[in-house]
Amino acid sequence: MNVLVVGSGGREHALCWQLAASPLLGGLWCAPGNAGIENEATCVALDPMDFDGLAAFCRAQAIDLVVVGPEAPLCAGLVDRLEAEGIAAFGPRAAAARIEGSKGFMKDLCARHGVPTAAYKRIGSLAEAEAFIAELGAPLVVKADGLAAGKGVVLAETEAEALDAARAALGGAFGEAGVTLVIEEMLVGEEASYFALVDGETVLPLETAQDHKAVGEGDTGPNTGGMGAYSPAPAMTPALCEETRTGIVEPLVRGLAAEGSPYTGVFYAGLMLTADGPKLLEVNARFGDPECQVLMPRLKSDLLAALIAAHDGELKEFDLRWRDEAALCVVLATQGYPSAYEKGSAIRGIDAAEDLDDVTVFHAGTARTDVGVVAAGGRVLGVTALGADVAAAQSRAYEAVGRIDWPEGFCRGDIGWRAV
Ligand code: AMP
Ligand code: GLY
Repeated sequence: MNVLVVGSGGREHALCWQLAASPLLGGLWCAPGNAGIENEATCVALDPMDFDGLAAFCRAQAIDLVVVGPEAPLCAGLVDRLEAEGIAAFGPRAAAARIEGSKGFMKDLCARHGVPTAAYKRIGSLAEAEAFIAELGAPLVVKADGLAAGKGVVLAETEAEALDAARAALGGAFGEAGVTLVIEEMLVGEEASYFALVDGETVLPLETAQDHKAVGEGDTGPNTGGMGAYSPAPAMTPALCEETRTGIVEPLVRGLAAEGSPYTGVFYAGLMLTADGPKLLEVNARFGDPECQVLMPRLKSDLLAALIAAHDGELKEFDLRWRDEAALCVVLATQGYPSAYEKGSAIRGIDAAEDLDDVTVFHAGTARTDVGVVAAGGRVLGVTALGADVAAAQSRAYEAVGRIDWPEGFCRGDIGWRAV
């Protein structure tokens, strides 16, 4: 089979790395890819939002399956467009991807199907915001409705802060994404994530994984896309996974199907583990990044076969096998991230890091130039190791990090601390 992966991050590198091992694979392409993905796939300079270009490429290369990594093309309808041309694509169609693309849609869906989530209201004006903030009382969470690259959420300790956040968002701080808002109650507890493959009907759980969103050690400082991840995640006990599947994910999947927007793809539920049980914070319509970088090294089954089964509605009979070993990924980012940072600094020692057993360096924001691999983004590398348990994977991953020579980069030194 000929496969095209869409995206250019560490998640897409991990997907390409796993797909490259499939006995079903013919050719593998990635649009646009990065300097590490080049080792697994042929990179093609097409933007994930260039639907015409992607469709034309698929026709020309006789692509049998497109695997869409990031949320923006999913929410904008890339799967719909490809399927309309008879090109099979893995990922939700736009109507189902609204579960990530519109927080208000997700909350209303929860309300219609009895799924536990924070009390909320969809807000379209400052007057409505004022009234609801007064009604609910602080602390509150103010969220832009649409995709805002993880920046559209303000945790407000006071009503005045909440009102300021609402005013800023409605005033255009998040562009179109913030034209409408969701204001909701602040939940207290530990955050956890749940991942599954969904084929429209059947929910096939993946192994557990947890990321670290904050830039600073001890999970402090501004949020990022994720500074590291580990799998398994001990916070997600088997009982909690079961409760999440039956009480949150399956009702939403059934609800979407009943409402005429069946969900196919990866279902990533962001949870708050509250005293009253798990409550849904958000849904992502794709693999997490860097959670994918710790799930893929643990997957023993053929990823390509699994994605095809999900696409074809055949997960019911499908089974996934996983390694017993744990995996841990340390993200190396450019100094300054998640604020402003420079591009173009040279990175050395990636091969030396990968000489260690059970270590894989997934590239996120890298490019290849005359001087070798250079940084081309905020999150740049995901140094990933397997080990007998999370502690062993952690020490192996940091040993590998120590072999990378990149003065302009930084990483957190405590990835996995909750699990170790
Ligand atoms: P979201 O994009 O909706 O997941 O929000 C981003 C982050 O904000 C989450 O990972 C949580 O850390 C936090 N957050 C979102 N909603 C709530 C809430 N209702 N209560 C407490 N924290 C929240
Ligand atoms: N690591 C968080 C995300 O992929 O959204």
